[in-house]
Amino acid sequence: MGASRHYPYDFIESEIISARNIRERVCALGETITEDYKDSEKLLLLGLLRGSVVFLTDLMREIRRPITMDFMSVSSYSKSESSGFVRIDSDHKTNIRGWDVILIDDIIDTGYTIRTVRKLLLDRSPRSLKVCALLDKPSRHKVSIDIDYLGFSIPDYFVVGYGLDYDEKGRNLPYIAAIDLAKGAE
Ligand code: IMP
Ligand code: MG
Repeated sequence: MGASRHYPYDFIESEIISARNIRERVCALGETITEDYKDSEKLLLLGLLRGSVVFLTDLMREIRRPITMDFMSVSSYSKSESSGFVRIDSDHKTNIRGWDVILIDDIIDTGYTIRTVRKLLLDRSPRSLKVCALLDKPSRHKVSIDIDYLGFSIPDYFVVGYGLDYDEKGRNLPYIAAIDLAKGAE
């Protein structure tokens, strides 16, 4: 259980992405986004609460453009299994009409969340809309999703850390760890 040494989470199975690898990838994503938006004066990072907070706040410091940030809170109905039902719990404050929006999530699982939020945002006439996710579990997709900026593709593990949680636990780990769902459910 080396990975959980300094953190009181007994459900951690193994570290799958180190803090260093995350840092390097976030840096590279920041470079790409800086380049892609070099002509944009109205760039908005729109994060989905709460999982994307750690990723978004690190990523924004690697983007050398004027940026604004905003958040939405959405949830699907269960603890570790996504359902097709996505509920908007709190909406963003910025009027995104005419803005270049990058929608940021922690992880794409079935794809239902991003698909639903993307559709909703497109109705609000942003100048452009792209999707950025730290993690993707392609084998779990139930709908097809274009991810414009992706940190890492991972196998079908349930993961925590760097903002991601299991039942609100594990968000403060500086790395990504796979968890043992049997222990997490205790
Ligand atoms: P989707 O709608 O199935 O794509 O689910 C996406 C959301 O489910 C993410 O924003 C996470 O909140 C949650 N989720 C999916 N897989 C994981 C995981 O492995 N760890 C933590 N949260 C997850
Ligand atoms: Mg989420």
